[in-house]
Amino acid sequence: MKFSHPLGNEKYNTPAGEVPTDIPSLFWRAVWSQKARELGGECPSVIDGYHFISEAQYNELIRRVIAPMNLKAGQSMLECGCGSGAFLKAVDLACPGLKLFGVDYSESMLEAARAKMPGAAFLFGDIRNLSQLEDESFHHSAAFAVLCYLNHMEEARQALDELVRVTKPGGCIFLGDTSDAGKKAEAMQLLREIWHPRAVPDYLFLEKGFFRRYAAARKLAVRIIGMDQPELAWYPPGFLRYSVYLYKSGCS
Ligand SMILES: C[S@@+](CC[C@H](N)C(=O)[O-])C[C@H]1O[C@@H](n2cnc3c(N)ncnc32)[C@H](O)[C@@H]1O
Repeated sequence: MKFSHPLGNEKYNTPAGEVPTDIPSLFWRAVWSQKARELGGECPSVIDGYHFISEAQYNELIRRVIAPMNLKAGQSMLECGCGSGAFLKAVDLACPGLKLFGVDYSESMLEAARAKMPGAAFLFGDIRNLSQLEDESFHHSAAFAVLCYLNHMEEARQALDELVRVTKPGGCIFLGDTSDAGKKAEAMQLLREIWHPRAVPDYLFLEKGFFRRYAAARKLAVRIIGMDQPELAWYPPGFLRYSVYLYKSGCS
């Protein structure tokens, strides 16, 4: 057994009742919405799925993974799939003075986020179509632990197109906690334990090459960093995930 922590936990991971499973993104929206409704009293990192580490560890995880974004006070950042705001809260702690914006496709998550992070602005939206946001509106953008809930690779490409579009030249687009297609077998074994006795729902695993090809086609600089670093040894799923940083050229 690789994990000393129960990543699988009836209270946190599995939806009560029947949730339709035929379209993964709809299934996941139901799961996250229910989580926000039932766990509203918990801290944001628990609501957002990180019940297996402490809030302080979650904040430290984010502090480390956002370092390559080169954020500066006074700049703006959009996070898509913001959940109840754990990521944005941790960003605010690590880099005070940013203007923070969150988008999510779950109304109950947004309600929790507004209550927990009154200093940020939250709006309803889907990472696959951000047409309510104008081009180059934010200095930086991010999606942390979100792409795995899309239906297929083409939707991941649409999400990247949207994040790149709304980010200003000179900014960074951060795709964090991305589920590594190269580790799918290990991840599926873990997921079977987490979801037992339910069937494992669909997750989207992405190859690092997908991001490299995307960056080359869009003339973006790219950095990919595994989350299996020794400094994050206490982060159980780190060996299954990586972070991607796309950099748009120009001055912000
Ligand atoms: C694992 S939680 C991560 C929350 C947040 N990024 C954090 O780390 O605190 C995933 C979130 O992504 C949202 N989400 C999933 N697919 C989405 C989509 N297509 N558009 C917008 N939000 C989405 C879910 O509603 C959920 O709140």
